[in-house]
Amino acid sequence: MNSHIAIAIDGPAASGKSTLAKHLAERLGLIMVNSGAMYRSITWKALEENLDPSDDKAVTAMLGRIEIRCSSNGIMSTITIDGVDPREQLRSEGVNANVSAISAIPAVREHLIDLQRSYLEHTGVVMEGRDIGSVVFPDTPYKIYVTADESVRAKRRGDDGEVDSIAKRDAADSQRKTAPLKISEGAVILDNSEHTIESGLEAALEILKAQGLEF
Ligand code: DC
Repeated sequence: MNSHIAIAIDGPAASGKSTLAKHLAERLGLIMVNSGAMYRSITWKALEENLDPSDDKAVTAMLGRIEIRCSSNGIMSTITIDGVDPREQLRSEGVNANVSAISAIPAVREHLIDLQRSYLEHTGVVMEGRDIGSVVFPDTPYKIYVTADESVRAKRRGDDGEVDSIAKRDAADSQRKTAPLKISEGAVILDNSEHTIESGLEAALEILKAQGLEF
C-alpha cells in the first residue's frame, strides 16, 4: 500500500466520523487528521482575542499574526497556536457556537487547507471533515461520506455532555459559499445510525476495498 495516500471521511456533525477515522487509521497504519480541530483552534484563538467571529477582516488579520503548527503524535494530528495546545478548550459552548462562522471565512479555509495537504509530504492520512473529498483531496479515490439520523447525532452530543446546536451548525456548514458540506464526487455513503464501532469499521473497510484500497 502507498503510505502517502489520503482517505477522505466527510459528513455532518456528530455522525461518528472521528471515531471511524481513528479506528480506520489504526487498522491501516495511517495518521488520523481531525480537520475540525483546526477550525476549532482558530475559533478558540479568535474568542481569546475577543474578535467578532463574523468579522472576516479582523479574523483574517489575526491569521497573519499567529503561528499555527500542525503535526502528529504518531497516531493523530496535533495543533498548537503560538505554542499553546488548545485541545481542552475545543469543545466549549463558545467554540461550538462560533466555529461555523469562522470556518466560512475564505482566508481561514485557504490557510488550513494548505496545512492539511502538507501532511501528505510526511505520511498517509485518514482525514475527517466537511470538504476533504471535495476540496482538500479531490483526486483521492478513497472517499466516504458518513451520515446518521439527526436524532442519533443529537443524542450522541448530549451523551458527550456538550451544548452544541448541531442542526444549526449543519445548516451553516452546508449553505456557506466556500467549500460547503456535500457528498463529493466518488464518495460512498455510510449510514452510521445503527452501526457499532466494529460494524462501522468493517463497513468502511468494505467500501475502501471496493474503491481499490489494498490492505
Ligand atoms: O468536525 P467538527 O464538528 O469538529 O467540526 C467543527 C466545525 O468546523 C464544523 O461545524 C465546520 C468546520 N469544518 C469545516 O468547515 N471543514 C472541515 N473540513 C472540518 C470542519
